[in-house]
Amino acid sequence: MKKNISAVLGLSWGDEGKGKIVDALAHEFDMVMRFNGGGNAGHTIVLGETTFKLHHIPAGIFSPNVTNIIGRKCVVDFFDIIEEITQLKNNGVEISPHNLMLSYDSQVVLPYHKQMDALREKMRGNGKVGTTGRGIGPAYADLISRVGITLGDIANNSFKEKLANEVRVFNAIAREFQEVEISLSELEAHISSLRHSITPFITDSYSFLRKNIAAGKKLLLEGAQGALLDAYFGTRPFVSSSLACIHGALLDLGLAFQDIAETIGVTKLYNTRVGNGAFPTEFHDEQLRSVIQGRGKEFGATTGRARRCGWLDLPTLKVVSSVNNVSAFAITKVDVLDTLDEIQICDSFVSLSDDEDIPYYPGSDEYFAGVLPRYKKFAGWKSATAGAVKKEQLPSDLVSILHFIEKETTVPIKFISTGAKREELIRVEP
Ligand code: GDP
Ligand code: IMO
Ligand code: MG
Repeated sequence: MKKNISAVLGLSWGDEGKGKIVDALAHEFDMVMRFNGGGNAGHTIVLGETTFKLHHIPAGIFSPNVTNIIGRKCVVDFFDIIEEITQLKNNGVEISPHNLMLSYDSQVVLPYHKQMDALREKMRGNGKVGTTGRGIGPAYADLISRVGITLGDIANNSFKEKLANEVRVFNAIAREFQEVEISLSELEAHISSLRHSITPFITDSYSFLRKNIAAGKKLLLEGAQGALLDAYFGTRPFVSSSLACIHGALLDLGLAFQDIAETIGVTKLYNTRVGNGAFPTEFHDEQLRSVIQGRGKEFGATTGRARRCGWLDLPTLKVVSSVNNVSAFAITKVDVLDTLDEIQICDSFVSLSDDEDIPYYPGSDEYFAGVLPRYKKFAGWKSATAGAVKKEQLPSDLVSILHFIEKETTVPIKFISTGAKREELIRVEP
């Protein structure tokens, strides 16, 4: 039987506007839980004149009476999350253990993970992933290797022996590669001096969630990254290290597909990617790229890097939506395309090597690099949609494109986002 659980997922390579959608919906829920990733995420929320960039903290934090949970399979940077909480509080956001919970079992990210992330990238040379440098890969390696420190270890003050082991291993590697070694005593003292500020937030989130789900409370699952950056399903090896598909949330909470009432898949009306890897529909036209980058402010919320931009890719969107059981789309940033003469949407792929149709998502970077996109072309609407709040305000040329996406994917569009602000959102009535 379906429970009161919904999910917001990114369907591409991240930065689809998940944060905005979660923030806009959060007041309808009792709990919002981030279920994957860590400080690599950058979710932007624009409230009035203030722009917030969230890295660890769920986007329900701005909604009163919502309990925000950082899930067990997130990795949490000990120093950065303290800073994130402090900055939000300094900007007037109320944060206490009543509205923010961290999970005992979450793996902790420490400075040596970031150093290791950088070292791995350096060793890869031209084949580097282009990570955010937030130590995500090494921290998830700890999780899978069953080593490292959890938030529970910090809450119980039982982290010291494990820390000593990790620093020993790291320093041996650092010596081998002439990298700066970590001082165990300094790091231990630094953690000890700050642990009191985060310990009250650390709890058994699993039991909390199970009890509240059983009691019929409403839960919104917030994905970080996007399906194409999923460690298993994405365009490997140019992916992140967590399960960004719905499966990550299901496994964490012990839920089945049929427990989820609604899965909202978020995609821009175009596509972007930060970091390296194949991007078949990427713009080759410099001018087009700079228009979209400029109008869409396509610069990474975490690293400030320029995002690569391209057309929407329906063959991939179809597969990603089906794998994640997406029940509705939120299409974001339609306003960014307001000035274009022509809009293209990739509706099929053929193989570069033999010109055969590829009717599936190619499944890894190597295969993705071997496809040639075919496009359907649409007339641009050439009028302002920015800030529209009703579907009737949208030009017919845009509505035709939205219908085409619905027809091709068989997924209904429930939300259309027309600006960065919370209220710049159209809710399409069925
Ligand atoms: P997330 O990581 O999926 O939460 O997305 P990001 O916050 O990294 O990137 C999305 C960017 O687009 C942010 O700068 C948002 O403020 C902005 N944004 C979200 N929705 C819209 C929209 O509909 N129109 C415009 N112009 N900007 C939007
Ligand atoms: P949100 O939640 C966009 C990308 C990085 C790199 C790859 C691996 O804001 O959508 P990592 O640091 O995770 O090991 O980097 O994944 N990446 C993101 N790109 N948005 C994100 O998060 C991302 N998180 C990771 O650019 O290509
Ligand atoms: Mg982002």
